[in-house]
Amino acid sequence: MEWLAGDDHAARARAARLLAAGKLVAVPTETVYGLAADARNEDAVRTIFTVKGRPLIDPLIVHCASPDSVDSLCVWPESARRIAAAFWPGALTMVLARRPDCPLSPLVSAGLPTLAVRVPAHPVLHSLLKTSGLALAAPSANPFGYVSPTRPVHVADSLGDRIEALLDGGPCEHGVESTIVAFGDAPGTIRLLRAGPISVEDLERAAGHPVSTADVCATATPQAPGLLASHYRPGKGITLFPEGTPPAGAVSRGLATVFLQRPGQESSDDGYCFWLSESGDPEEIAHNLFDLLRRLDNDPQVRSIRVENPSSSRGILRAVRDRLRRAAAPRPEH
Ligand code: TXA
Ligand code: MG
Repeated sequence: MEWLAGDDHAARARAARLLAAGKLVAVPTETVYGLAADARNEDAVRTIFTVKGRPLIDPLIVHCASPDSVDSLCVWPESARRIAAAFWPGALTMVLARRPDCPLSPLVSAGLPTLAVRVPAHPVLHSLLKTSGLALAAPSANPFGYVSPTRPVHVADSLGDRIEALLDGGPCEHGVESTIVAFGDAPGTIRLLRAGPISVEDLERAAGHPVSTADVCATATPQAPGLLASHYRPGKGITLFPEGTPPAGAVSRGLATVFLQRPGQESSDDGYCFWLSESGDPEEIAHNLFDLLRRLDNDPQVRSIRVENPSSSRGILRAVRDRLRRAAAPRPEH
């Protein structure tokens, strides 16, 4: 795998050439690293599924340089335009109706009549999208079901031998995947499909009305096929404990305890203890979550992990709670 410096113009041009030639390149975004391919190229898109071990029924997000470039791919309801104006470029994905003449591979949207699109804000990816003129299909750059990568080394560790290149844009700002929304049949209705850095409160402020947050996994027909109950899962067992109730019981070096913020001396002294933020800042908790889970998964001393589950669902903590719930869910039988 070629390691390309995202801040170097020639390296970005190299990434653009590889993508135009149908190769896969891992790219930085402000949420997590993505595994990108030219969304028009059927073979390249198919390779994404193969490399990730991802079922073909699980559609991908398409990354575009600007809202204008979405026009040739999708049909927009008026409410989507308002949301795009408020949050793009940024960590928001919208599921829109695919235009009948959309030039992208049908595999991108797993044959569905809808397409998930996002205009990302990361300067390195933005520059790549603009100069290449490509729309890039990119799921998170991790093996299917595993913890998403928030640093270049995470990508190199788990996919390095299976992809052409990695464009290094440093650690990802948010550390959890984008918020996904869909638009209902009634004019103006918005449904949350996946919690993320753009909060429900932010969405409601921009839309001027409530956003539906009904659990999409609980419905009979999956509205986002990839939103499985078990996901983002480290190899080691993970359990949750409620915020503010330090778990009692036997402490052993094999059991890592992860707090939301730096605990008092009495809690931190008696075990293998970590925290996601010094002060309990929600953005910092999200930023560090996947990195710490990966570090503990790779730590030979650790056999299992227990994590403090935030009690609040405000802001980005809704996404933290969602990822923790999936990480701790039992693995489905195959
Ligand atoms: O932050 C992110 O969104 C990252 C970066 C790389 O952009 N990408 C990401 O992609 O998280 P992925 O593939 O790991 O998650 C995409 C989710 C999946 O759960 C998928 O089912 C859903 O988006 N999705 C994609 N197209 C859809 C569609 N047409 N309708 C409903 N859900 C869709
Ligand atoms: Mg993913």
